[in-house]
Parts: sequence; C-alpha cells; structure tokens
Amino acid sequence: MNDNTSLDDASIVIAIDGPAASGKGTLARKLAKYLDLALLDTGALYRGTALSVLKVGGDPSDEMDALSAALRIGNADLNDPNLRNESTASAASKVAAIPSVREALLKYQHDFMKNPPDGKEGSILDGRDIGTVICPNATAKIFIIAETETRAKRRALEVFGTGYKTEEYDRILQDLKQRDERDQKRASAPLKAAEDAYLLDTTNSDIEAVFEKALGFILNKL
Ligand code: CDP
Repeated sequence: MNDNTSLDDASIVIAIDGPAASGKGTLARKLAKYLDLALLDTGALYRGTALSVLKVGGDPSDEMDALSAALRIGNADLNDPNLRNESTASAASKVAAIPSVREALLKYQHDFMKNPPDGKEGSILDGRDIGTVICPNATAKIFIIAETETRAKRRALEVFGTGYKTEEYDRILQDLKQRDERDQKRASAPLKAAEDAYLLDTTNSDIEAVFEKALGFILNKL
C-alpha cells in the first residue's frame, strides 16, 4: 500500500470521517461550497463498486467479484440512481472490508487529492478512513458522531420523508447497526477517529451549528 499519502506542499485536504448517516455528506457539501474546495464522497466509490457487483449477480463478499468491479469503477456506477439505496449501502460495507478493494480505490482518492478537479486549491473527502489511512497528514480532520437512533431517524426522513412507518425506521436502524459493526470491526482501515481529529457530536445540533464549529476548527488550521 502507499503510493504516498504525503501531499505536495500546496494542497489543502479536509478529512471528514464518521459512521453511517452521521451527517458527513451534508457537512462536507456545505464546507466545500463555502471554502470553494473540490468534494469527493468516498462512500460513493464503495457503493458504486457494490452496485456493479450486484448488477451482474455477483457476491459483494467475494474478493474476485468485488476487486474486478473496483478496478472497473467508472461514472456509470457512480451516477447510478440506485447508489443511495440501503441495500447498496449494505453491500458497500461488504466490499469495503476486502483489503484489495480498498487498495484499488486508494489510487482514485489520492489522484483526486493531488489534482483536485476544476482548478480548485484543495479538496474535502468524506468517508471512514480519510484521516487515518487515505490522508494521515490532512490539513484538518473532523470526526462526526451521533447516537444511532438519531442517525436512523435522519436516514428514514431522507429516504421516506416525514411520514415514514415504524417498520421502515426499524429496518434502517438494523441496517445501520450491522453496517457500523462491520465498518468498526474490519481488520483493514476500520472506522475510527484519528488521534488529531476534532470530534463533533451532532446528536443535539442542527446542521448550521455543526457547520459553524467545523468551519472555526478548519480556519484555524489553514
Ligand atoms: O452515507 P452513509 O454514511 O450511509 O454511507 P457511505 O459514506 O456512502 O458509505 C457506504 C459504505 O462504504 C460504508 O458503510 C463503509 O463500509 C464504506 N466506506 C468505507 O469503507 N470507507 C470510506 N472511506 C467510505 C465508505
């Protein structure tokens, strides 16, 4: 591993990590817009890989199936409307536990950090292992957490809208718990906060408050 995680001098990299549905994506989008940085949702790479395995009837836990999909990842997979489905997310956490898959997707992430698109001065990556593995010397690292039930409610709202049913919420809660456990317990790049990450608990905070705190932390590091 390691096609060099140290970056060239000028690049700014903001790492945002945390468990499923913790609000990483929303925060990352707001920060990228405000700071005019390129944004990479790294979860989409794992979701895209998983979806491409599922499409051909493969097994997301099978290394050959998952690795060949990761090596072929392209825009068609990354823009597929089924990318955000919970079944895709669950399969994503299976391909994500396979070290060779992570290795294959590492290059994509490093290329993005080194050459942010659209001439941007730097990038924001959100995921699980950005501050620990993908970019240990990131300019600023944020680790977002929230209680599991709060995260499940937010995801149920996102998927089903305000009128979601109890059984829909229950299924999402179950899926999140399983996914968190797989992400935390895997041997390769498990979900955990980097020692120098700023820990933000969003359980009782709205997005504006979280954004202000994160921005204050980042501006101090620039
Ligand atoms: O949006 P949500 O937080 O539900 O998930 P995601 O960020 O799209 O990630 C989907 C799955 O991809 C996660 O459950 C992880 O298993 C995996 N993943 C990872 O292992 N490493 C990353 N940097 C990003 C995602």
